Amino acid sequence: MIQHQNDSGIGFKASAFGPDFHWGVAISAAQNEGAVLSDGRSLSIWDVFARRRGVIKRGVTPAQACDFYRRYKEDIMLVKALGFNSFRFSISWSRLLPDGSGKVNEHGIRFYDDVINECLLNGLTPFVTLYHWDLPQVLQQQGGWVSPLINKWFRHFAKICAKAFGDRVKHWLVLNEPVGFTSLGYMLGKHAPGKQNLSFFLRAVHHAAIAQAEGGRILRKHVDGARIGTTFSCSEVIPATLQQNDLAAAARIDLLLNRLFVEPLLGKGFPEDDKGLMDKMNRENLSWKYTDRMQFNMDFIGLQNYFPVVVKHNAFIPIIQASEISPKRRQVPFTAMGWEVNPTSFQNIIKRFWKYGAIKELMITENGAAYKDRFTGGQINDAERISYFQSHLQALNRCMKDGVRISGYFAWTLMDNFEWAEGHEARFGLVHVDFKTQLRTIKDSGYWWRDFLR
Ligand code: NOJ
Repeated sequence: MIQHQNDSGIGFKASAFGPDFHWGVAISAAQNEGAVLSDGRSLSIWDVFARRRGVIKRGVTPAQACDFYRRYKEDIMLVKALGFNSFRFSISWSRLLPDGSGKVNEHGIRFYDDVINECLLNGLTPFVTLYHWDLPQVLQQQGGWVSPLINKWFRHFAKICAKAFGDRVKHWLVLNEPVGFTSLGYMLGKHAPGKQNLSFFLRAVHHAAIAQAEGGRILRKHVDGARIGTTFSCSEVIPATLQQNDLAAAARIDLLLNRLFVEPLLGKGFPEDDKGLMDKMNRENLSWKYTDRMQFNMDFIGLQNYFPVVVKHNAFIPIIQASEISPKRRQVPFTAMGWEVNPTSFQNIIKRFWKYGAIKELMITENGAAYKDRFTGGQINDAERISYFQSHLQALNRCMKDGVRISGYFAWTLMDNFEWAEGHEARFGLVHVDFKTQLRTIKDSGYWWRDFLR
């Protein structure tokens, strides 16, 4: 049984990453808290979006999720029991500010106070994400991320969080995967608020790029000794062939997936492409040439990687003229999400970000895998997930040996939760959740982590 195995199976121990390394698990408010109308919280865009027919698998909503709102003490104890030293969670904007801006909900403050204090009691370093995709619905009704007012609303929210929690929380992440919520939410319609509009997407991108820098400045001003970062999703983009049109298609996808938000943050402005997409954005935002305003000197950058993509030229796809060749078609290993398992690409994309030269430090703020877990004799033997973590930690170790400065790794995620449009179908947790009873069962991967971190 894995529980009694001492060897991590990867040739080194966690201590190989140094004594100050942040080993954590990450969760988010909308995916875990539930209690969406408790104690004065207002609805978020996800609560409203999830009610639409057919948008979430099996019609699940975030209304209950893992009930972290009531079970946070046990759940934080689990983080501790699995041997982690850090815990990443996000703040529900609509729990703190039910009107979106304006008056603070004291119950909201108290809840996050309790969560933070519980972390500290258990010797866990809290990492707080300001925005993990759950905009208050009242703000969406006024345009959400498409409205220029979002920057004012976000500054207000950030300031309240910094002032309320900054005495105890020193590690902050401004935005979670801005490419994710702007593209899926405002262009592809697959995530809340479910819009499908290129011009909405471009405006949302512009405002999010401003928000990530302004959030950083607000945290710097109000939190003594803050370590400030923000997170980016990233994927190595591999051209299907070396033909010119495939190379160009891969470069466009790379711009969208990897360069769109980090380059403005580093003071380079928006990246250029060969189809005029960014040009269109500049035209739309003629009066907003805010290169300086989008720049902020982060203490670290959080990378979130799950898979690479293989891309070919496709004339039928408007504007971007590129499409992905799925892992299934390429006959390579993939997870229950259909995402390729490829630790070498993890290594490549980390090095690629490090090559910017202007990043002080990297953390892996999410990495993990969904599989179809099954109980056998009361246990979940998720050997594939263990092997995913093992191979990715080996790749991370190689990056460190090659000189990349990496100060943390957060597994996604503590427990099975509300996986956005996948509902409860995709399970990423180290801990299994029975959503009918809320019973938690540690999977073998959870025990593997415990042994590795011991
Ligand atoms: C990225 C997101 O930040 C997180 O919320 C999501 O659950 C994971 N990836 C897995 O899809």
